[in-house]
Amino acid sequence: MKIRLEVIKDVREICQKHKDEPSPLIVILEEVQEKYGYVPVELQEVISEETGVPAAEIYGVVTFYSFFSLTPKGKYVIHVCLGTACYVKNAQAVLDKMCAVLKIQPGQTTEDGLFTIEAVRCMGACALATAVSVNGKVFPRVESKDVEKILDEFRNQEAK
Ligand code: FES
Repeated sequence: MKIRLEVIKDVREICQKHKDEPSPLIVILEEVQEKYGYVPVELQEVISEETGVPAAEIYGVVTFYSFFSLTPKGKYVIHVCLGTACYVKNAQAVLDKMCAVLKIQPGQTTEDGLFTIEAVRCMGACALATAVSVNGKVFPRVESKDVEKILDEFRNQEAK
C-alpha cells in the first residue's frame, strides 16, 4: 500500500510532538489511529525511525490492542456486543446475520469501504441487550430481523 508523503510527514510530526513524554509510543499510535483510522506497517516503520523503538515491538503493540487496526476501517464501524448479557439474548445470531448480509467476517471491511464489523465485549448497555452500535450510536434490543433496517439507515445516508 502506498502511503502519501504528506501522511508520512504528519506522522513524523506527531512523533516529534510526543517524543519527550514518559511513554510516547501508545500516545503516538493512538493519535495516528484516530487521525487516519489505521496504523499500517509502513507507518509503523516511520514511527520506529522517529522513536528508536524497534519496528517488531511496534507491530506487537498494534496487533495486541484491538483499538489499533492494520487496515483502514469502514466509514461506519459496527460493534456487535458479545458480552454475557447480550450473548444470552442471541447476540451471536445478530453478528452472524450482520456478517452474512455484508459478506464479511468480524474485523473485516466491506469492499466499498462503507462498513466494518467488530465483535466487542460488554459496551456498558447490558439493559439494552442485544446492543449494537454504529459509529457510537447504540441500537437497543437488536434481533437478527432488525439487521437490514439498521444497515439501511446508513445506506440511505449515503444515497442522499
Ligand atoms: S453485555 Fe452487551 S452491553 Fe453489556
